[in-house]
Order: sequence, then C-alpha cells, then structure tokens
Amino acid sequence: MDENITELISDLRTYLEYLKGMGITSLPVAENVPEKAPRSETLTLADVRTELGDCKRCKLHRTRKTIVFGEGNEKATLMFIGEGPGYDEDMQGRPFVGRAGQLLTKIIESINLSREEVYIANIIKCRPPQNRNPEPDEIESCNPFLMKQIRVIQPKIICALGTFSAQTLLKTDTKITALRGKLYDLEGIKVIPTYHPAFLLRNPERKREVWEDMKKIAELLNNA
Ligand code: URA
Repeated sequence: MDENITELISDLRTYLEYLKGMGITSLPVAENVPEKAPRSETLTLADVRTELGDCKRCKLHRTRKTIVFGEGNEKATLMFIGEGPGYDEDMQGRPFVGRAGQLLTKIIESINLSREEVYIANIIKCRPPQNRNPEPDEIESCNPFLMKQIRVIQPKIICALGTFSAQTLLKTDTKITALRGKLYDLEGIKVIPTYHPAFLLRNPERKREVWEDMKKIAELLNNA
C-alpha cells in the first residue's frame, strides 16, 4: 500500500480511538450530517416568552401556579435541561431552585461555571400535580417552545438531566444508564445525558459518574 495511505489510515485510527475515549461511538454519514440549528438572528428569548404567553395549551395550566420558562445566559455555551418544575419551582417561577436545584448549582460550579453563565430549562414548563411524570401530550405541547429556546441560545452542549429529558430530546426509550456519558446530536448541538440531581440525592454513590460526565463537558467546552 502507498506509504501515504498507510499513514493516513494510522492517523485516522488514532483519531477514532481518541473520539471513542471521549465517548463518541458513532459518526454521521454524509447524507445525515445534521443541519446546524437555524439560529434566528432576530428571535430572542423574550420573543419566545411572549409567544408562550399565559399558556393553556395543555391541562397542566389548571394546576400550576407559575410557568417556569427557564433562566440564564441567552448566549450560553452550555445548557441544562431537566424534567419539569417541582413544588419550589412552581412557587418561585424559576427552574431548579429546590434541593435538586441546589445540587445542580454545585454540579455547575464543579466545572468553574455559574448558574448565570449557563442556561437552565426543563422539558415541560408547568408542574405536574403531585410531581407525577409528564405525559406525552404535555411534552408535545411544550416541546416547540423548548426547541425555540435551544435555537435562540445555540449552545455548544446540552446536558440532558435524567431519563425524561434525555429520552425526549433524543427521541429514544433507551435507559438513562445506557445513555449517560455519551455524546449525541440534536440539530448540530452536542447532547450529553447524565443523571438527574434528584436521583443523585437518593443515590449519592452515583455522583462519581456525573462528575465524569461534567469533566467531559468541560473538556469539550475548552476545546470548542
Ligand atoms: N427537577 C427538574 O427536573 N426541574 C426543575 O426545575 C426542578 C426539579
């Protein structure tokens, strides 16, 4: 074989090993190269919030106190997406402010970022009664607004927190244990699922895995 080609193959193998080490286990083929999410130069988060209005698109409006739109930096490179508001979030109208939220704040700070530098949102914006799981029609009503938020912010990385977030964003029913720590694609944005902070409160021995995922996120942000 031509010496140049042998060298090229060797370089390619090294590069693929490196990607594997980063958790990238598949590459898109040419036809499937995802379009970069269309960043609207004119649309802002305020516009999306205005369009959402006093939303009554699903049944959760009857029991919620406050719509929890999301908060943080409109130009964030890292976005966290949880499941949906709990009691504290519903009362305050802000995402992740309860016990799980305090842990999320520590997780964010573990990679030397602050809540103000990232953007925090949820799959659904209204608290389900008794914190039950979100239902498919509720997720479907809310999804266009989350997608618009993502397209305005255009983060480099989305960290999907927990089963509902990861499965909804990636349109899969694969378990979070299998999804976590790996890299996926959503409209050209890297998605890394990890465990939900509320799960970590119940299973503190799993924090180490989240720490590994956060290190990977920090590395990707630094190399971007
Ligand atoms: N859990 C979530 O998934 N989101 C919040 O905002 C709070 C708790």
